[in-house]
Amino acid sequence: MVSHLDRNTVVVIGAGGMGMAMARRFASGRLLVLADSSATRLENALAALQGEGHTVEGLGTDVSDRGSVEQLAKAARSHGRIEAVVHTAGVSPVTATARQIYQVDLLGTAHVIDAFFAVASPTMSLVCVASMAGQFASLSGDLERHLATAPTDLLLGHSEIDLDAPDSAVAYVVAKRGNQLRVQAAAHAWGGKGARLNTISPGVISTPMGVEELQGPMGAYMQSMIDLSGARRLGTPDDIAGAAAFLTGPESSFITGNDLLVDGGAVAGQRWQAGSAP
Ligand SMILES: NC(=O)c1ccc[n+]([C@@H]2O[C@H](COP(=O)([O-])OP(=O)(O)OC[C@H]3O[C@@H](n4cnc5c(N)ncnc54)[C@H](O)[C@@H]3O)[C@@H](O)[C@H]2O)c1
Repeated sequence: MVSHLDRNTVVVIGAGGMGMAMARRFASGRLLVLADSSATRLENALAALQGEGHTVEGLGTDVSDRGSVEQLAKAARSHGRIEAVVHTAGVSPVTATARQIYQVDLLGTAHVIDAFFAVASPTMSLVCVASMAGQFASLSGDLERHLATAPTDLLLGHSEIDLDAPDSAVAYVVAKRGNQLRVQAAAHAWGGKGARLNTISPGVISTPMGVEELQGPMGAYMQSMIDLSGARRLGTPDDIAGAAAFLTGPESSFITGNDLLVDGGAVAGQRWQAGSAP
């Protein structure tokens, strides 16, 4: 009789549009630990996944709270070896303030990197979902170094990080660039444990968040990014889950500390089709 204790564990943080695609991609034949701060979202997700026959355990987790993420990591490790962790929880500038974005998207990702480093074992792979927005950042060298290497409890304390800024779009760009840089800086230590970590930077993806963005104040600009992209379509959550499957599997064993841009060519289109070429 095979029990769930004989299976590898995969952790998916965030039960939104991308999180559910990740859950469905990774759950078969594994024990899935699914985390989200919204009790309703988590309950609905667990019911759907269990109804499809998956072995899944849910844990209410707020990534902006260090202790909460540490509990999640310990609970996942208590089941045995963790094969992969995919972090999709986040908030967007359409609904969140600058402070919330810094606390969830920037600090929350640093908590995930720290807490899962503590329980990492050889071949474990962590993927954090950043954003193509990080590619548009033009930050000072001092802020880049801070985002990459500052102790996590001091991460939000930099003179160029304004928690009360009225424009949360700037916070989103800084937070997502921060995710990419932090993963770069952590890769050497993770390698010491035989583990890897990377970011994925999605373009515009058809999830509740992506649709809200398209309907928000930046909607026309985002639609123009899609129109000027190579793929000329919205991305699907499964496009991102496919990239995460690659980055957590053996075919990417030489890729760590890196960012994989999965944007349908939107960033390329902005550079070469939008009249911004030098
Ligand atoms: N959808 C897009 O177009 C797009 C594009 C680029 C990047 N992203 C990034 O992809 C990630 C996933 O986005 P999505 O489209 O699946 O969004 P979504 O809104 O569908 O899901 C996000 C999930 O995160 C959860 N969450 C929010 N705050 C949390 C917290 N403090 N702790 C734990 N869980 C929390 C929410 O409850 C929700 O279930 C985010 O980091 C987002 O910034 C999205």
